[in-house]
Amino acid sequence: MAKMWAGRFSKEVDEKVNDFNSSISFDARMYKQDIQGSIAHVTMLGECGIIDLEDSKTIANELGAIFQDIHSGELEFDPNAEDIHMFVEAELTKRLGETGKRLHTARSRNDQVALDIRMNLKVETKAVIKLVKQLVTTLCDIADNHKTTVMPGYTHLQRAQPITFAHHLMAYAQMLLRDIGRLEDAYDRMDVMPLGSGALASTTYPIDRQRVCDILGFKEITQNSLDGVSDRDFCIELASAISILMMHLSRFSEEIILWCSWEFKFIDLDDAYATGSSIMPQKKNPDITELIRGKTGRVYGDLMTLLTMMKGLPLAYNKDMQEDKEAIFDAVDTVKLCLSTFIPMLETMTVNKENMRAAAAKGFINATDCADYLVKKGLAFRDAYKITGTLVAKCISLNTTLEDLPIYEYRQLCDTFDNDVYKAISLDTCVTQRNIDGGPAPEAVAKQIKYVREKLKADENQ
Ligand code: ARG
Repeated sequence: MAKMWAGRFSKEVDEKVNDFNSSISFDARMYKQDIQGSIAHVTMLGECGIIDLEDSKTIANELGAIFQDIHSGELEFDPNAEDIHMFVEAELTKRLGETGKRLHTARSRNDQVALDIRMNLKVETKAVIKLVKQLVTTLCDIADNHKTTVMPGYTHLQRAQPITFAHHLMAYAQMLLRDIGRLEDAYDRMDVMPLGSGALASTTYPIDRQRVCDILGFKEITQNSLDGVSDRDFCIELASAISILMMHLSRFSEEIILWCSWEFKFIDLDDAYATGSSIMPQKKNPDITELIRGKTGRVYGDLMTLLTMMKGLPLAYNKDMQEDKEAIFDAVDTVKLCLSTFIPMLETMTVNKENMRAAAAKGFINATDCADYLVKKGLAFRDAYKITGTLVAKCISLNTTLEDLPIYEYRQLCDTFDNDVYKAISLDTCVTQRNIDGGPAPEAVAKQIKYVREKLKADENQ
């Protein structure tokens, strides 16, 4: 196929170079935005008298028809087209002849692609935000049912202090709220309209950039034409927000993998969200979460691709930047896939409350509370800490727990101990006593859940 830019050349491009150069296989997914952008552009050209108003209407209508034909599958992408921009323009000219050739007046593919990718990623960012909000709602729903489900809280993966399952889940809700904030931030800087930057130095035609901005629903226009065509910060910001989000999903996945192991057995995944082994009949594997953990590395790779691609580029557009799409689309597709599998997996898992509680009952998880008991009776914390340490050592040597250690053993070490120590170190007391904002007590967690739900609602109404 003869290139639109063939005029300057005396030979056709080598076939391999053609394939190497082509981006249609991955930028065709922006066809809707490409056409919307062209309709806005040509409408403005007509209104400003840069092209004939009738021509502008004819072109806009035909672009609409091309969109419908692609959408319905009637019009297939030509793999030989250089990119989506060339494909749509060539199709338009095929259909309208001379009139179609007027579309690209006062425009370059450089500002066109900058526009398309911003528009496309705006849609994608909204879709990712929606999924993250769904996940947060799911966490709030599960947490609501587990405000009194006691489990061990860990540091260094060693049992540390008792918490509740609801408290643990709501920690992830906090991370995800920050993810939403970062995604919204990225959206904000994406929402700037670059068309009119031309190839790099804008244009000599008296175009109305604000009009295009308004038609397309952008917040504002870009302020420098060189930056307008060469900025890909918004891709990098989105990829980094997604990377952090994936890191959170990956940590969560790691915990789920642990929790459904025989060693923990805190949860069971629904059969529809687990897989078996081809050789070991007893196996039920948490493949989804392992894949999410694995795919996190792949998304970090996408972020690295973008950062590295940009680091040496002189202003303004360089073809290197065509490589932005595969990386950012991969990051977007991956996180969407992960979220939409992760949410129903959580919704359908069953929680083994008894096992969680039994795990919390072992491991001297109430030792801090035992020390605090003495402090509340007047001892200095360091002394109370030392006495409790000795008690723990004693329990270990007697193969028992603080709950089961007889009171005379306590009193032998420190006569401040009384029978009320057993209540003070009971798991339920340990949890309900931590009724601090942000703490694990059922009341405090109820507050957290309310805060998160309200935050989601406020965001919705914005
Ligand atoms: N397919 C190109 C890209 O994705 C569009 C811009 C091409 N511009 C150019 N001057 N070759 O970046």
